[in-house]
Amino acid sequence: MPKPDEPPRYSPKVFDVATAEAARAIILQAEDPTEVERRWSVETPWFGRLIRHACALGPESRVLDFGCGLGRLSKWLIDAVGCRVVGVDISEGMRKLAADYVGSAKFSAVAYEAFRADPAWGGGFDAAFACYVLQHVERPDQDLPAIAAALRPGGRFLLANSQMRWVPTTQGWARDHFDVVALANASFVGVEGYVFPPEIAVLPGLDAETVLHLYRRP
Ligand SMILES: C[S@@+](CC[C@H](N)C(=O)[O-])C[C@H]1O[C@@H](n2cnc3c(N)ncnc32)[C@H](O)[C@@H]1O
Repeated sequence: MPKPDEPPRYSPKVFDVATAEAARAIILQAEDPTEVERRWSVETPWFGRLIRHACALGPESRVLDFGCGLGRLSKWLIDAVGCRVVGVDISEGMRKLAADYVGSAKFSAVAYEAFRADPAWGGGFDAAFACYVLQHVERPDQDLPAIAAALRPGGRFLLANSQMRWVPTTQGWARDHFDVVALANASFVGVEGYVFPPEIAVLPGLDAETVLHLYRRP
């Protein structure tokens, strides 16, 4: 327990989960299992189709799923497109669960630290996406350049993110000064923005809260 006068420190422990149910609940920020299931089943194929088309994915594509969580989008893309996906996640529990959940030789889960040491791991990526991840990371000013470095020139990056920062700390969720969209604009060239339709955004207000931008690596 942190002492009350201790300043909050970054702590992604909240993502350290042991079961798929706990992973789904924290990924989709809902405790009611019916709501989790509804959001999972409505939102996942919509994001999957968006990533597939926006990033022009085909069976030969090598894709980076930054902050893959349980791998719901990696799985959707592998099943629908047949591409290869590398999921990067800071949580060991998520990475283990993702390997089981995706259950494909076309998927591998890589630790955040290993990714940061060599972003173009295994030869680089044709496309990348980060879905509701960069609002949680400690250093988006370092992670966005690393994602850009992971891509081949011209490779596309789909950012789906909360407008607000939700930084996990020793004293709960916190805000900080980072502007993720401004940082993405500094590392990539903007291609297109999308609207998140209210009928897909299962949680109240999630449509207005979500930013969806497609970028390309210069
Ligand atoms: C809200 S979940 C989203 C999971 C997945 N992208 C999805 O849409 O289903 C956020 C994920 O980001 C991961 N994460 C948080 N900070 C991270 C970091 N610095 N690097 C990589 N992954 C991180 C968490 O462990 C968690 O799995």
